[in-house]
Amino acid sequence: MLRRGSRVIEARGISKRYGDLVAVADVSFKIGKGEIVGFLGPNGAGKTTTMRILTGFMPPTDGTAIIAGHDIFSEPLAARRCVGYLPEQLPLYLEMTVTAYLTYVAKIKDVARRARAPAVDRALERCGLTEVRSRVIGNLSRGFRQRVGLAQAIVHDPPVLVLDEPTLGLDPLQVRDIRQLIADLTSPQDGNQRTVILSTHILPEVEAICQRVILINEGRKTVDAPLEELTRDGRSLEELFARETTHDVAEEVES
Ligand SMILES: Nc1ncnc2c1ncn2[C@@H]1O[C@H](COP(=O)(O)OP(=O)(O)O)[C@@H](O)[C@H]1O
Ligand SMILES: [Mg+2]
Repeated sequence: MLRRGSRVIEARGISKRYGDLVAVADVSFKIGKGEIVGFLGPNGAGKTTTMRILTGFMPPTDGTAIIAGHDIFSEPLAARRCVGYLPEQLPLYLEMTVTAYLTYVAKIKDVARRARAPAVDRALERCGLTEVRSRVIGNLSRGFRQRVGLAQAIVHDPPVLVLDEPTLGLDPLQVRDIRQLIADLTSPQDGNQRTVILSTHILPEVEAICQRVILINEGRKTVDAPLEELTRDGRSLEELFARETTHDVAEEVES
């Protein structure tokens, strides 16, 4: 069993090349049980690539990762079972009802047949979906679809959550709801404290949810520190972000 304070996510020298492009370069970090870490970086920094590797969706070119004590190479199934993953673009089954979809996900996540209905009920309730459980996913608002995304990530009650830009494309009220939901899902329940890594380039999101920041730029880790330390003496995350990342000038002029 995992002891309190033991590390639950460990990246060990992860690198990923796509042909000539080095998307992730020798990234290492350790995340302890119950920590909520904001994974920051500009577009193209390598956040999604790193998360796909941590969740076993894609092998690294070099290095490895340990999830809840399981190496992604030597124990891939055990490692994947411990992770709930909300990908950047979740392939939702638009014609399915919320309940049917979550039951299907529970099945492919190896939740035992008898445990599926209670697991789905719990995920529906925790994600505020009980009222829309019989609705077809395609008829839900974006905010509710994102709730379904979070529900599929937690349906097998994993100790680790990997959330890739969970509020991207939502309107301000939906952003507020989803942030609150993430805060709820990550608060200790029944003595069970989830460990979370959440990517974003929205700095207030980090300040609202996270205790620690890992920043990557051009595939390299450049910052890894508690939020409190980074914002001490009135310093802002924005200054840090500007200092530690490279900007595409053309993009800045555009936006
Ligand atoms: N499947 C892929 N094939 C080739 N290049 C990719 C692929 N996925 C991502 N990249 C490139 O790798 C870099 C990192 O991308 P990504 O991990 O998506 O960054 P982020 O999530 O931080 O925006 C970018 O330059 C991106 O264009
Ligand atoms: Mg990304």
